[in-house]
Amino acid sequence: MANLETTYMGLKLRNPLIAGSCGLTDSITNIKTIADNGIGAIVIKSMFEEQIHIETEKYIKNGQGNVNTSTKTADNLIDKRIYDYDEAYSYIYDYAKNNTLEKYLSLISEAKKSVDVPIIASINCVSNYDWQSFAKRIQDAGADALELNIYILPSDFRRSGDENENVYFEIINEVKKFIKIPFAVKIGYYFSSLAQTVQKLSETGTKGLVLFNRPYNTDIDIEKISLSAGNIYSSDFEYNHTLRWISILSGKTSCDLSASTGVHSYETVIKMLLAGATTVQMASVFYKHGFIVVGDFLARMNDWMNRHHFNSISDFRGKLSKNNLENPAAIERVQFMKLYSGIE
Ligand SMILES: Cc1cc2nc3c(=O)[nH]c(=O)nc-3n(C[C@H](O)[C@H](O)[C@H](O)COP(=O)(O)O)c2cc1C
Repeated sequence: MANLETTYMGLKLRNPLIAGSCGLTDSITNIKTIADNGIGAIVIKSMFEEQIHIETEKYIKNGQGNVNTSTKTADNLIDKRIYDYDEAYSYIYDYAKNNTLEKYLSLISEAKKSVDVPIIASINCVSNYDWQSFAKRIQDAGADALELNIYILPSDFRRSGDENENVYFEIINEVKKFIKIPFAVKIGYYFSSLAQTVQKLSETGTKGLVLFNRPYNTDIDIEKISLSAGNIYSSDFEYNHTLRWISILSGKTSCDLSASTGVHSYETVIKMLLAGATTVQMASVFYKHGFIVVGDFLARMNDWMNRHHFNSISDFRGKLSKNNLENPAAIERVQFMKLYSGIE
């Protein structure tokens, strides 16, 4: 048997497969089943920053909690730049009512008691407003680590690239004040200079970067002539973008890289590891094929490693990273010219 063990953010994992944050990592039954199928670690479904704001307001109204935001209400705690229409606010309010912080914290502690793989909590955030102390409660509930899913769509014409990007650093600096457990930052790819920003983010004290969050996709229903939601689940051909960036960034960052989006096969797992990923996250494949794929991927990875005489993950991790290339863009351009100029 090949040794699939690895270390991610300082945590020991029995293998590099991680169940990414999604609706399936929201219940103890599922968490147990994923662990029984052999997963290396589990990221629990995210709490939204907005939920934390709304509960903070509830605490203030009831005179509970130790928050120093006594003059604030949910209206001004929630960023009006982002939610300046009523429908959004009422949706978030109802969502928060049904998904309380206490419920989330007990999910973490229950998960810790139920399985012996690392449990990573997750917060989905868009601003730096007074929610970060909640990270400490996540730590106290027993989470092994925290993943911050920071997703700012740079669609506001009034905000510069620097203004948007600073929010990431402000959030990280604030969260760092509250926790000792390792944390990872999950990001999208809308940055003016992705390589430089990722490198800078990796130097903030974060122990992991998850590349990439898959954004909500917009589509258009041409019969209803209205906007609609695009595919919620990824497809197996969506991994190349992540593969490119893992390969460019591995060896150039000060933290672990976790590959996410479009991982639907053991081959893609191997590719991400060859490119330099420390771990690989999966979500859509579980919706499409169930948790059973974990055992299948592990068996096939083991077989592949044996065929190629690799005893451990570190024997091949990063073998095909672009770390040693001075200018990956130039290489890609030549490949592009070679490949596409021949097609008529
Ligand atoms: C139904 C669903 C719910 C999700 N919920 C979350 C979430 O709460 N927090 C988060 O960080 N990512 C969430 N994601 C994104 C996944 O973690 C992952 O980044 C994305 O789906 C790309 O990976 P995949 O191609 O393996 O699906 C969700 C994905 C799906 C399909």
